[in-house]
Amino acid sequence: MGILDKLKDLAGFGARAEKQLGQRLPKTPEGYTINIRLPIMPYRERPKGEIIERYPIYDPWAMVSIILSESTNEYVYFIDETPLSEEEIKIYRRVIDFLLWEVGELKEGEDPKDFIVREAKRAIDLFRTRAKRTYNVSWDKILYYIEREVKGFGPINVLMLDPNLEDISCNGVGLPIYVYHRKYESMPTNIIFQNEEDLSSFVIKLAHMAGKHISVAFPVLDASLPGGHRLVATFAKEVSQKGSAFAIRKFREDPLTVVDMIGLGTISPELAAYLWFLIEHKKTFLIMGVTGSGKTTLLNAILNLVRPNYKIVTIEDTPEIRLPTKNWVQLVSRPSYAAGESKAGEITLYDLVKISLRYRPDVIVVGEVRGSEAYVLFQAIATGHGGATTIHAESIDAAIKRLTSPPMNIPESYIPLINSALMIERVPVRGKDGATRISRRVTRIWEIDKNATPIIIGKWSPSKDTHLLTLDKSPMLNSIAESLEISISEVLDEIRMRASFMRWLYYNNIRNYIDIASAIYKYYRSPKEIMSLVEADLGHVSENTWN
Ligand SMILES: Nc1ncnc2c1ncn2[C@@H]1O[C@H](COP(=O)(O)OP(=O)(O)OP(=O)(O)O)[C@@H](O)[C@H]1O
Ligand SMILES: [Mg+2]
Repeated sequence: MGILDKLKDLAGFGARAEKQLGQRLPKTPEGYTINIRLPIMPYRERPKGEIIERYPIYDPWAMVSIILSESTNEYVYFIDETPLSEEEIKIYRRVIDFLLWEVGELKEGEDPKDFIVREAKRAIDLFRTRAKRTYNVSWDKILYYIEREVKGFGPINVLMLDPNLEDISCNGVGLPIYVYHRKYESMPTNIIFQNEEDLSSFVIKLAHMAGKHISVAFPVLDASLPGGHRLVATFAKEVSQKGSAFAIRKFREDPLTVVDMIGLGTISPELAAYLWFLIEHKKTFLIMGVTGSGKTTLLNAILNLVRPNYKIVTIEDTPEIRLPTKNWVQLVSRPSYAAGESKAGEITLYDLVKISLRYRPDVIVVGEVRGSEAYVLFQAIATGHGGATTIHAESIDAAIKRLTSPPMNIPESYIPLINSALMIERVPVRGKDGATRISRRVTRIWEIDKNATPIIIGKWSPSKDTHLLTLDKSPMLNSIAESLEISISEVLDEIRMRASFMRWLYYNNIRNYIDIASAIYKYYRSPKEIMSLVEADLGHVSENTWN
């Protein structure tokens, strides 16, 4: 691919921008008609209402205000980006023009985006030094917009840079983009794609950024953007009535760990300890919940606790799981781009689960089960591998029903292979200040008995905001105790000890996944030593919450 193609791809300078600008632009030596698109800007009109919070995203050019709208009584995410002045627009166009015409050589191995930004800086410097008059412009602002278009995510760049946002979704033309904010939950923004052309070319740009392709022939895409953000997109009116659409689940630089989950109250130290004990004994667990409830995050957090010498194989459609261990094989499926029925080159989750056994895993993890891969996963866990997965379901009964119906078709006799099942939900939680906020909680924990009947062994209490576990009644812990020829109370002591250890990690702010891994490693190497440290620090070992 030539540098011009790369530029067009990266910056999404589509063939129609020319029309928009109403002028013919010169042809390059390679014969391309170059078009210079102006940045798509957020709406400038601020909704009436109280500004609840205001913070910079890219000082001083991009600020965000959270406004409680008077007319709708909902929060609005208002982006305040200083627009380019007319003179700045002229220079912006000339810099882009320069980039397309006079761009230098891309060095071997150099990131094309960094390269373009560097070239833009060079262009701006040239422009400034050679200018015959003084310009009343901000060079810095011009560079901000060039970076935003070339290296960043164009009109949604502010959303991508804001660490408070979890999800970004655009449901079609003429509709505001919605975001999910950690503090204010779902709300509209002042970014609206005005026409299908703008939106479709932006969706194409996103697809290119993910190294993928989207078109009328291949109108759906599930891919991973630079930075690990998960992209789902549909093209034009092929599959979605309102035209192209996309949703981005943002990847956290710093993933939520098991210690964070304890800090947030999603799980308790005792529950973490129980799950830790369970994976150590190569048992299996299933995380259930609706879209965006936090299933994948919880799965990843629990995997922080896997014994360091265990081999983990993960199988996903888009790579979301991140583990500190080196003993980890990460398999990712690949769609087919062949036309028609052939599906040539496609590698499915099913193929990957089958192949995963060759790696001799101690724990097999499937990011989410949806189809025939579930059956192979169950076969694998039936032969003594530890396993974990998530499923989209709003209750345990719905999960079992989904597993045992097409296309998963798990025989009912396999259902007891799920040793433990957890339900995660977004629920209102009353804080110490009396205010109610939506938080994520594991609300119920079941084990599945021999007859495929779920037995509840733990639940979250909304009034106390605590998890109550009745682990002494756990069929699984009883069977582990039996196989180890120890009593159930010894097992419970071990779990209690680990719960103290988890609590200790939390109080000492050992929350980064690499630090947790090294602490777990120490726990396995010299448990007595580390536990005497824990006891000395905490002054006591965990209170007993299950008998
Ligand atoms: N316990 C939690 N506390 C706070 N934020 C969380 C928690 N769990 C997940 N999140 C955030 O919520 C968002 C959605 O989480 P996640 O991807 O795990 O959901 P999911 O249930 O797997 O969604 P999907 O159904 O789309 O796969 C992420 O941005 C994540 O950072
Ligand atoms: Mg998920």
